[in-house]
Amino acid sequence: MTSVLVQPATRVRGRVRPPGDKSISHRYALLAAIADGTSTIHGYSTGGDCASTLACLRALGVEIVESRCDAVTGLDLRITGRGLGGLRAPTAPLDAGNSGSTMRMLAGILAAHPFPSSLTGDSSLRRRPMRRIIVPLERMGARIASMEGRPPLTIEGASPLAAIDFEPEVPSAQVKSAVLLAGLHASGVTRVREPLPTRDHTERALEAFGAAVERSGDTIGVCGGRRLRALDLTVPGDISSAAFWMVAAAALPDSEVVIEQVGLNPTRAAIVDVLRRIGARVDTAEDDRRASEPMGTMTVRHGVLKEVDIGPHEVPGVIDELPVLAALATHGGRLGVSGAQELRVKESDRISALADGFRRMGADIDERPDGFDVRGSRTLRGGEVDARNDHRLAMAFAIAALGATGPTTIHDAGAAAVSYPEFFSVLESLRA
Ligand code: S3P
Repeated sequence: MTSVLVQPATRVRGRVRPPGDKSISHRYALLAAIADGTSTIHGYSTGGDCASTLACLRALGVEIVESRCDAVTGLDLRITGRGLGGLRAPTAPLDAGNSGSTMRMLAGILAAHPFPSSLTGDSSLRRRPMRRIIVPLERMGARIASMEGRPPLTIEGASPLAAIDFEPEVPSAQVKSAVLLAGLHASGVTRVREPLPTRDHTERALEAFGAAVERSGDTIGVCGGRRLRALDLTVPGDISSAAFWMVAAAALPDSEVVIEQVGLNPTRAAIVDVLRRIGARVDTAEDDRRASEPMGTMTVRHGVLKEVDIGPHEVPGVIDELPVLAALATHGGRLGVSGAQELRVKESDRISALADGFRRMGADIDERPDGFDVRGSRTLRGGEVDARNDHRLAMAFAIAALGATGPTTIHDAGAAAVSYPEFFSVLESLRA
């Protein structure tokens, strides 16, 4: 329950290498765990969520050696896979901590293992909706008990699973991934149709590990039964963590931040377009590609902030960046977001928590059932806010606080460690 005091800043300048991408780290660890042979992963996320994935995998009999941990470049791992369908029955409930990605994606793999397992998490995760994965995984042949659609989940897997064609009710990369990971163990081709595209890291990683993946229009399919090969992988920097520095540079006059080795996957980079529309100057240069994930350098400079609206079709592309984009609008311009009701079932109810926190800092914000409107015409005064055990809120409040006239105390700021343990020290290093 750490509290952090954030002082206003006049500008930010410098170079940052963001932590290894959280979404990609989970996927590489999960696939390495069910591949044949030993994979090496460089730059694995140092965040608590990705540690939860490793702890669950170890409890399923996977050997994982952490060979080095560096605050800048992340963790280096060696993971010895147990092969398709080869995980060992756990002897205790698996704890996914705060991580929805761990719970939902691992459930897809456990659904294909014919032993009982149970998945639980912290109080935030135990409030999050799981019916979205229970329904398709049960259609494939698993049995999953839950607390009225919420964790803990008790999974009785089946082998082999039946392939299905599935369309999630809400755009969700986690749901798509859970079904595709189960589909990897099914007989036949499992297909997921997504009318609005979501991050495609699972598809890219499956292909890299040697799975047979088919893409046709808005549908992605995976052929069951193909064994995966071990790989040597590098995780790109997390653009959702970089987003805090991108926004700080966009918000404060005379600022410039260069972000190195950041992932530039188009299904994650929609924030670049939004920032340009808002008035920031953003340059990107792709200079590397590992395991089919593009990465490169990004430079963000301040510009005069304008009024921007983000509608339902754009929401999946910036779902994790909406809190920090709201923080940007407290510095100037205006941001209207609609069709983002999913924010209410993230690590916290991010719509109400954002509105409450920003109001306490003096912002002009309206909350709606599916979004919010933030008008940047008022300078914040600072104050006391509660991150509600939500990492992205802790960091978004800090970025808003840079533009206030007085200091801001962020309670529960330690939550940032779920995705970005180094966040507050990097923030101090960028003040100029
Ligand atoms: C993630 C997908 C998104 C995102 C989450 C990470 C992933 O969640 O908000 O932080 O790694 O697939 P949903 O799939 O619930 O939209």
